[in-house]
Amino acid sequence: MGKIFTEFILGIKIFRHKYFRSTLIIKYFRTSKNKKMKNPAVKKTISNGIKKNVTNNHKKEVDLSAKLLKLFDDELKDIYWAEKALVKAIPKLIKNATSEELVSALNAHLKETENQVIQLEKVFKHIGKDAQAKKCEAMDGLIREAGEIIDECEEGAMRDIGIITAAQKIEHYEIATYGTLQAFAEHLGYEDAAELLEESLVEEKNADEKLTHITEMIFNNELVNEMH
Ligand SMILES: [Fe+2]
Ligand SMILES: [Fe+2]
Repeated sequence: MGKIFTEFILGIKIFRHKYFRSTLIIKYFRTSKNKKMKNPAVKKTISNGIKKNVTNNHKKEVDLSAKLLKLFDDELKDIYWAEKALVKAIPKLIKNATSEELVSALNAHLKETENQVIQLEKVFKHIGKDAQAKKCEAMDGLIREAGEIIDECEEGAMRDIGIITAAQKIEHYEIATYGTLQAFAEHLGYEDAAELLEESLVEEKNADEKLTHITEMIFNNELVNEMH
């Protein structure tokens, strides 16, 4: 009896020990949490929550892609109109230019512009849309401005400089447009369309550089000679 009593007292002492108590408490909570996780109702709620989040994120991505595609399509229609208008407008610039280099550069770019119209039609095809033109107010304004400059400048080196001024504004508009469209195409996963747009972008940049070079030539030679 004395031995049982001693063991009972020892048991109470062990239970009252801080470490032993805290171990028991931690064990209780772990067991209760595991029970909750194993509970099918709780499991389903968590899984539904994750699924809902994934679905919402996916829906947002699909919406954004659809909006980007619409903007991409609208901008393609804009530049398609612009290139077609330029095919008609560049011959007027050629007719009024005097410098051989300028006439040659404009003729070469007219051919590139005609091809850019075809390139854009291919881009439309790649994205599964019909090639449609939408009036580009900016290009319409730039072409009208080119006409005004031609009328205002006297024939010769002055008019050549005027034509280059107008043409470079046009090139810069095209460079901005093709740069953006190429980025759009890449983002939307239209790799072939992005390549076609990059080809036109390079042509516009080269045309712009060539015009800068011709301006320097005119300033260094013809215009100075005309002034003296
Ligand atoms: Fe162009
Ligand atoms: Fe151009």
